[in-house]
Amino acid sequence: MFDTTPIDDKPAARIDGLDLSQPLNPAVYPALRQALSNYPVLVFHGQNLDAGAFHDFTRGFGPLQEHVLHKYRHADFPGLSWLTNVAADGSVDEFGVRRATTWHSDGSYTADPPALGILHAYETPGSGGGTLFIDMGATFDRLEPALQTRLRELTGLHRHGAGPGGDMYDNSLADDQEENHRDVFHPAVTKHPDSGRDILYVNETHTHKFEGVSKADSVALVNDLIAQAVRPDAIYHHQWAPGDVLIWDERSTIHRGEGAYAPQERRIMLRAIVDRLT
Ligand SMILES: [Fe+2]
Repeated sequence: MFDTTPIDDKPAARIDGLDLSQPLNPAVYPALRQALSNYPVLVFHGQNLDAGAFHDFTRGFGPLQEHVLHKYRHADFPGLSWLTNVAADGSVDEFGVRRATTWHSDGSYTADPPALGILHAYETPGSGGGTLFIDMGATFDRLEPALQTRLRELTGLHRHGAGPGGDMYDNSLADDQEENHRDVFHPAVTKHPDSGRDILYVNETHTHKFEGVSKADSVALVNDLIAQAVRPDAIYHHQWAPGDVLIWDERSTIHRGEGAYAPQERRIMLRAIVDRLT
């Protein structure tokens, strides 16, 4: 149906042989879901989807989440949002360069975090502006057994931008839903519903405390876990080109934007967040 090529020893694979702008054989979706069990980031090159086609493709996985910030939502497809450093009047939005450059998994601050993130690049900077991914199943497997045992007993408190790496989000959720200003609780170790693997479900942007652990010790533990997770050799660093489509498993990865590009260079992508797989 399509070719799957692992990318070096990274938690990513390149998918060839599909034109995502065309209606897909329905069997493609479960096959991609299966591929995500082995490679939590799937990379497609040379795609060309307008917003309608991107909506159709992403909607094939399941219902899409509407972005909490109205200004980023696509006018015709509220399930799609713009990831851009270009403001509505065409000027450069400096926050767009820094946005989401700390490790996180999208929506971990919600009670029911989403399943997949999907991006399609239209304009990309000449250098920098990449996206970095870490497999949190592999991360958990690498931890010392005593730490694994301790983590299995812990529950993390997540709130938007409240983690030790979340400072940049001050005031960025003015028209947000109320739930994003409350703590939600997730076990520090989750089980992936498809692969059955243990996943370290902690991130530095939104995880700010563990139940029964002091604030200071919690922050130290979050920082230690993220430091162990983001070993340079474990990172899949995606350098974007126009036409790229990336699908990542939100349940088993953390990611961040690289930033590090000249703010006058345009970086424009469409994003879909798949709530749950159907
Ligand atoms: Fe993100």
